[in-house]
Amino acid sequence: MVKRVPPTSSLSKPKNLLALWKLVILLGIVILVITLARIQLYYDTSPQFSSSSSGRVYRRSQLPVIDDERFEGNPRIAYMFLVRRDLPLDFLWQSFFENADAANYSIYIHSEPGFTFDETTTRSSFFYNRQLSNSIKVDWGESTMIEAERLLLQSALENPANRRFILLSDSCVPLYNFTYIYNYLMSSSKSFVDSFLDMKEGRYNPRMSSVIPMRKWRKGSQWTALIRSHAKVVAYDDVIFPVFKKFCKRRPPLDPSKGKQNIRLQKQHNCIPDEHYVQTLLAMNDLEGELERRTITYTLWIQSATNMETQSWHPVTYNYATSTPQQIKTIKDIDHVYYETEHRTEWCRSNAILVPCFLFARKFSRDGAMRLLGLSV
Ligand SMILES: *[C@@H]1O[C@H](CO)[C@@H](O)[C@H](O)[C@H]1NC(C)=O
Ligand SMILES: *[C@@H]1O[C@H](CO)[C@@H](O)[C@H](O)[C@H]1NC(C)=O
Repeated sequence: MVKRVPPTSSLSKPKNLLALWKLVILLGIVILVITLARIQLYYDTSPQFSSSSSGRVYRRSQLPVIDDERFEGNPRIAYMFLVRRDLPLDFLWQSFFENADAANYSIYIHSEPGFTFDETTTRSSFFYNRQLSNSIKVDWGESTMIEAERLLLQSALENPANRRFILLSDSCVPLYNFTYIYNYLMSSSKSFVDSFLDMKEGRYNPRMSSVIPMRKWRKGSQWTALIRSHAKVVAYDDVIFPVFKKFCKRRPPLDPSKGKQNIRLQKQHNCIPDEHYVQTLLAMNDLEGELERRTITYTLWIQSATNMETQSWHPVTYNYATSTPQQIKTIKDIDHVYYETEHRTEWCRSNAILVPCFLFARKFSRDGAMRLLGLSV
C-alpha cells in the first residue's frame, strides 16, 4: 500500500519557510512598484521632460473637438434662418422666442455678406449679431443656396447642445408656440425631410450616374428639420456636393425673342439643387429609415401659365386678406400628405404618434404675419 499523504509533522518546517519566502517576494514587488511610480511621477513633473508631457497634451487635443454626447444644460433646437437680407417677420419671431426658455434654442442667420443684425436692422434683439461671419453671396436656385445651408449647419454643429436643426426662410412663420414645437421635434429620433422619387421631370443628369445612381435620386422641399447625426452628414459631405455643383444647375430662363434656340435650351437639364440635395444625400447614405419623409413647413403651390405657354409652379404668398383664422386652421388640421409618384400616403407622426403635419408655413407677407400675430397662434 502506498501512503499518498505523508505525515504532516515532516512537512511543517519547509511549509513555514515557503510562506516566509512568499512574503519576502511580495514585499519586494511592492517596493519595486512604489519606486517605479515615484520615478514616473518625477518624470511627469520634471521640467526636464516637458516635451513628453506636452506630447500628452498634443494627443489629447487630437481627440474630436466636439464631444457630441456631452453638453451642458438642455438639448437645444438650432433655428437657422436663410435670408436674402433682413428678417421682415422679426416681430412675429420676437413674440415666439419671448415665450421660450433661452437655454432651449440657438439662432443662426445666413444673410448676404456684410449685412449685420443690430438695432438698426431689426426690432428684435433675439437676432442681434446672430449672422454668420463667413456667409456667401447666394443665387436663388443655384448651388450657392445649398452651400449656405451647409455653412449654417457647420456653425450650429459647433454647439454640442444643438440636437435638432431647422432651416427657415425669411417668409416662414411658426404655427405653434415654442414649447409645442420643441416637444414635437425632440420626442422624435428622426429627421423630417420631404423626399420622394422623381422620375418625370428630367432633372436627373445621367452624367452624375457614376456617383449618384438614378435609383437614389430624390426630390423634396428644401425646408428640413434634421437630427444631429444627419446634420453632420450634410455639413461635412465632400462626395455628393461636388457632383451637384457640377451637374445640377438651373437652366437659363427661356426668352421668347430667341425662337428656335429655346428648343435646344429646353432640352438642357433644369435642375434646382436645393430641391434634391439633402434628400438625395441621405438616400445615398442609406439613412431613409431614420427619416419621417415629409416636411414640417407648409407651402401652397399653384400652377400658372407663363408667357412661353408652359405651366410652372409658384408658392402662394399669404397676405392680410388670405391669412384668415379659417385658412390657418385648415393648414394646422392637415394630418397626412399624399405622394403621387410613389402612391404613398404619409400619415404625419412624431415618435409613432399621429400629429398635425405642419409646424411652420410659408410664404407670408408682413401684413399676413401681422394678422397671424393678432390671432396669437
Ligand atoms: C402651446 O400650444 C399648445 C398647443 O397648441 C397648447 O396646448 C399650450 O397650452 C400652449 N402653451 C403655452 C405656454 O402657450
Ligand atoms: C426646455 O427644455 C426642458 C428640457 O428639455 C424642457 O423640460 C422644457 O419644457 C423646455 N422649455 C420650453 C419653454 O420649451
